[in-house]
Amino acid sequence: MTKKILGLSGSLRRASFNTGLLRAAAEVELDGVTIEVGSIRNVPLYDGDLEQANGLPPSVKTLQSQLQAADGILLVTPEYNNGIPGVFKNAIDWMSRGPGLAMWVGKPVAVIGASPGAFGTIMAQDHWLPVLRTLKVDFWAEGRLMVSRAGGLFDADGNLTDTTSRERLADFLRSFSKGI
Ligand SMILES: Cc1cc2nc3c(=O)[nH]c(=O)nc-3n(C[C@H](O)[C@H](O)[C@H](O)COP(=O)(O)O)c2cc1C
Repeated sequence: MTKKILGLSGSLRRASFNTGLLRAAAEVELDGVTIEVGSIRNVPLYDGDLEQANGLPPSVKTLQSQLQAADGILLVTPEYNNGIPGVFKNAIDWMSRGPGLAMWVGKPVAVIGASPGAFGTIMAQDHWLPVLRTLKVDFWAEGRLMVSRAGGLFDADGNLTDTTSRERLADFLRSFSKGI
């Protein structure tokens, strides 16, 4: 049976490097595993009053059903001020509410990212660790993928054009997908 990885990018930018990295991930042919591209675009800012009054927003319910159906999760994270961008953390926080909390437990999760700097999101990736530990996921720590100096590796629309980076991405995904 084909397994599924849900991929989420933490950027809303049209020509985002991270969304482009996720698109490239979804194009990689994996043995018995497909990558579904999810979206955090319509997730509102978390507001406990909103949740109490209306329950979970439709965008969050969609993400939770994708999470539920997924055998693994790929978080493609930008780095802001050496940490997780607020929009991405906000989406994951919403996804952990209600029935979502139990859906994370034991789920294989890998984190990758791209940035124009020299360290390619290493700090943001590490910043995810306490969050993922709290969600009790099965964090995949056997490989790392930091796509640094992204400005020279993607085109103006955020498509990953660099062959070496595509190969590194494919290697990472082959290993992760074997582990789910
Ligand atoms: C508020 C802010 C803070 C940033 N801080 C960092 C940083 O700490 N490290 C880094 O490598 N890039 C940093 N950047 C640059 C981002 O890596 C860059 O904007 C990147 O394109 C964001 O990812 P995206 O292309 O997927 O949108 C920052 C950008 C913003 C807007």
